[in-house]
Amino acid sequence: MKAKNKKTDVMVAAPHAAAGPRGSHPGHNLAKDASVDLGRLLDLVAAFPQQTICVVGDFVLDEFVSGEISRVSREAPVLILRHRRSESYPGGAANAVNNLVDLGARVLPVGVVGDDPGGHKLLEYFRAKGVNVSGILQSSQWVTTTKTRYLAGWTHTTEQQVLRVDREPETEVPANLQAQIAQKARKAARGAGAVLISDYGLGAASPSLARSLHPKRMTLDSRYRLLEYRNSGITAATPNEPEIEAAYHSRVGTDVGKLDDYGQRARRDLSLEALVVTRGKDGMAIFEPNHPTRHLPVHGSDTPVDVTGAGDTVIAVFTLALAAGATYLEAAHLANYAGGIVVMKRRTATVTRAELEAALRHDATADQ
Ligand SMILES: Nc1ncnc2c1ncn2[C@@H]1O[C@H](COP(=O)(O)OP(=O)(O)OP(=O)(O)O)[C@@H](O)[C@H]1O
Ligand SMILES: [Mg+2]
Repeated sequence: MKAKNKKTDVMVAAPHAAAGPRGSHPGHNLAKDASVDLGRLLDLVAAFPQQTICVVGDFVLDEFVSGEISRVSREAPVLILRHRRSESYPGGAANAVNNLVDLGARVLPVGVVGDDPGGHKLLEYFRAKGVNVSGILQSSQWVTTTKTRYLAGWTHTTEQQVLRVDREPETEVPANLQAQIAQKARKAARGAGAVLISDYGLGAASPSLARSLHPKRMTLDSRYRLLEYRNSGITAATPNEPEIEAAYHSRVGTDVGKLDDYGQRARRDLSLEALVVTRGKDGMAIFEPNHPTRHLPVHGSDTPVDVTGAGDTVIAVFTLALAAGATYLEAAHLANYAGGIVVMKRRTATVTRAELEAALRHDATADQ
């Protein structure tokens, strides 16, 4: 059932210069404005399977080793866990790829993994899902970043993370591999409706690589070097609030006026058509030229089960929606729904197209 004309609510920040002395108080200068049509969002989601997205970036393996607390060791004051299970999921750029696959898109991943167990697991995982992995190099010159979380619990208690062990390459991606990645990225970008850059600081993606692609549109998630992507042809970016703070060496805290300033500034500095700042439990803020800042409250509960990788889900849905013809505001709304859904799932998780549609339908039919 489709409910046309049913709108979502969006908060619009009044220009804070005019907001008066209390304008910096969160929520104080926010006015309500009904803005996107849920029927239109459903149409966009229906078009997801027709889209091709190229993802260039740092592929990571997220591992979770869980065990039951059996006793305290006599060798050292540490817990001994009885191994229950080990699970691995795609992380980083690979998590964005995995989300896009589950949303029904055709995905062209480009990057590098090591000739190691983590690399084999990632390739195997994607092959089993029918993903074209020809853009993922596997090299003995590289180490697959693997983040292993150890989770301890009793049979009827929630597991707690007690330790994380990261395996990481010690160097940047060697120049010969970078050149091969660039070549594969250029080829994949030509056949894609959008390129998604997922730069976790490991070196597979870079501003110079982005600059050489010239795709229809290109979105960016960069953990450490957002501003280095200026003049790289990026059309939109989805940093989280700490990344914006790090870029400008300052704190936003609860001051929406400051968020407004830095958001607009980052959008201008990067010459973006849109900037979406994800703010954890505080939702998202959208910056576009000639628009007031718009704030989306989180979809659903603000008590998440597991926020691991939520940012990857956000940029995946945002990019896919843009490729399907969404406006930036519509794409942000869809990403916001997906972010709200994925944080209710344990581990590094994805949102499926069916789940996104169900959430939209639920809201479209509510109060009718
Ligand atoms: N505490 C929370 N409650 C509800 N939703 C949340 C919470 N934290 C995150 N989210 C959802 O996930 C989205 C992205 O989260 P966040 O701002 O933490 O991104 P991130 O820090 O880039 O994540 P990542 O760790 O994947 O890089 C938010 O915009 C929101 O939709
Ligand atoms: Mg992030």
